[in-house]
Amino acid sequence: MDFDAIGKYMVPFDVDLDLNEGILKGYTNHTIRRASSMWHYYQDESALETSINNGDPIHYEVFEKTVPEEYGHLMMGVSKLYAGTVGQEFFMTKGHYHAVAQTGEVYLCLKGSGYLVMKTKDGDFFALPMERGKVLYVPPYWAHRSVNTGTEPLISFFVYNAEAGHNYGDIETEGFSKRVFNQNGKTIFV
Ligand SMILES: [Fe+2]
Repeated sequence: MDFDAIGKYMVPFDVDLDLNEGILKGYTNHTIRRASSMWHYYQDESALETSINNGDPIHYEVFEKTVPEEYGHLMMGVSKLYAGTVGQEFFMTKGHYHAVAQTGEVYLCLKGSGYLVMKTKDGDFFALPMERGKVLYVPPYWAHRSVNTGTEPLISFFVYNAEAGHNYGDIETEGFSKRVFNQNGKTIFV
């Protein structure tokens, strides 16, 4: 990807963020994950299949303003995770380690409510609540996933090292040590 330059330097830029809709205007990368993108992530596969056959709803979208994926740059974007359940399990993002595992990430929650759940390769588990105004720090080595336990989209702004990349494969095979369910209106971790 080419970037505007002043001499040998990249030109500074700004982007507008729609704080209500959770859309980063001027994004250059847009990822959409529907129910059919989420095989093997939810526990109740028959509920997922039913959902796919009933319109295949969007579970989440990510908008990024891409920069060179190299040391020193910071990638920023917005995650918009819709409200809903598959069976009784709350909608969630796939979750990932960073391919460069020793890179952290910062989230700023803008709207909605839920959790940022995290795990390490050693089986440690941690969950931080997400609600408007929370700034969450994901230290290096922690895989991270958002879970929407509310009734409106869970929207957050994030920044991470641009060279970090994503490692989804480990999560697809290992999962997280706990899932988040709606049990008769109560949020439980199992
Ligand atoms: Fe990340």
